[in-house]
Amino acid sequence: MLTELLAQFNVADKSGQNRLVYNAAWQANQQRLIQLGQEFGAKVTVDDYGSVYLDFPGSQPGLAVATGSHMDTVQHGGQYDGLYGVLGGLCAIEQLRQTYDRPRKTLRLIAFSEEEGSRFPAAFTGSKFYLGQPQTQPLLDDAGISFETARQQAVTPLQALPQVHTKRPALPATFTELHIEQGPRLKLAHKAIGLVTGIVAQRRYVVTVHGQANHAGTTPMIHRQDAVQRASALMTHLYDVAQQGSASLTFTIGAITVHPNVDNVIAGECRFTVDCRDETDAKLTQFTQQLDACVAADPQVTLTPTLTVSATRLSHALLRQNELLAQELGLPYEQLFSGAGHDSQIMYTAVPTTMLFVPSDNGVSHCPEEHTSAADLAKGVALLAASLYQQAY
Ligand code: HGY
Ligand code: MN
Ligand code: MN
Repeated sequence: MLTELLAQFNVADKSGQNRLVYNAAWQANQQRLIQLGQEFGAKVTVDDYGSVYLDFPGSQPGLAVATGSHMDTVQHGGQYDGLYGVLGGLCAIEQLRQTYDRPRKTLRLIAFSEEEGSRFPAAFTGSKFYLGQPQTQPLLDDAGISFETARQQAVTPLQALPQVHTKRPALPATFTELHIEQGPRLKLAHKAIGLVTGIVAQRRYVVTVHGQANHAGTTPMIHRQDAVQRASALMTHLYDVAQQGSASLTFTIGAITVHPNVDNVIAGECRFTVDCRDETDAKLTQFTQQLDACVAADPQVTLTPTLTVSATRLSHALLRQNELLAQELGLPYEQLFSGAGHDSQIMYTAVPTTMLFVPSDNGVSHCPEEHTSAADLAKGVALLAASLYQQAY
C-alpha cells in the first residue's frame, strides 16, 4: 500500500517535488489525504493552518497516541522527506486496524502543514500552531504573497469539505515521527533503524549587503560599492570561520539574490541566507557570536534572524521501548542524533516525543535523488506499528 500511496502523493518529475506550503500541489495532497482518511473511517480535522488530523477513535476515552510528519517539501525536493512519515504512519495504523480492529486509545495521524521554511521565512509553522504558537510576524514569499493570504486561500476550501472538523484536537499522549535519516549513517552501518536521541539546534538568517548600483562600463573599479564583491568576501570569510569552528557545526549558504540582478549593472544589494546548526545551543552560539561580530564590523551589512530552534533531547523512555521492539523484530538499529530539523523538536516541548529513522540511499536528501528502498521503508512502518500497538491496544 505504501508504494502505491507514495506514487499517488508524489509527482513523477525529474526536477523533484515542489509541494511548498499552500501551493496547488500542497492543497491537492492534503485534500487527497482527507479523502483517504474518510474512506478509512477516520474523523478528519483540518486546523486553521491546514494541518490534517485523522483520528481513529479508541474504545476508551483519553488522549490519543499520535504519529505523522509534514506535507510540505523543499523546492526540488525528494519523494520521502515528510511524506514518508505521513503515509507510513497511515499504513501502520491501517495494518493495526485490519489485524486487531479498534484500538483502546485513539490513534491519530498528523500531516503538519509546513515544516521546511521553503516558501516563507519561517519554519515548523504547522507543529507550532498545533501547540498554540501562531505566527505573529508578517511573512511574505518571494512573489510578495503574504502567509495569511496564501493560508486562507488554500485552507478554507479544505475546511469546507464535507464531514471535516476544524477545531484543533487536544495534544496527544505521545508523538512518534517516522522519517528518512537524510544522511549516510545507517547505510554505512548496515542498520535498518535509527533511534533518534536528539535533534540539532538550528538558526537561520538573511544577510543583506548594501552597495550602490552603477554602470558596469563607466564606473572605475576603485570607485565602486559593489554589493556582490562585498558579499562574496563576507561569504568566504564566514565559511573560513565555520571551518575553524566546532567539528559538529554545519554552515550553509543556500540562497543568494542580487539586486537589480542585471549583467551590466553593478549590484546595489546582495542578500544571502545562512543556515547554521550544532549539537548544542552553546556550541552554536560560539559561531553566531562570530557571525554577529562580522556583521557589526560593516555598517553596509544587516543581519535578519528568520529561525531559532533549540537543540532537543527526545524521550529516552520511548526510545528504550522502541529499542526493545526493534530487538524483538530482529531489526538492526543504532541510536543517533539528527542533523536535520524535524517537527518532533517542536512537539517534544509539549508531549513525550520520539523519532524512527530509516536509511537514505547514498545519504542524500532535499533533492530529486532522495531515495529509500521499499524494503527499508517497510521496516520502519513495521517498527512504528509495533510501537503504536504497544501504546494504543
Ligand atoms: O532543514 C531541515 O533540517 C529539515 O529538513 N527541515
Ligand atoms: Mn522532514
Ligand atoms: Mn526537509
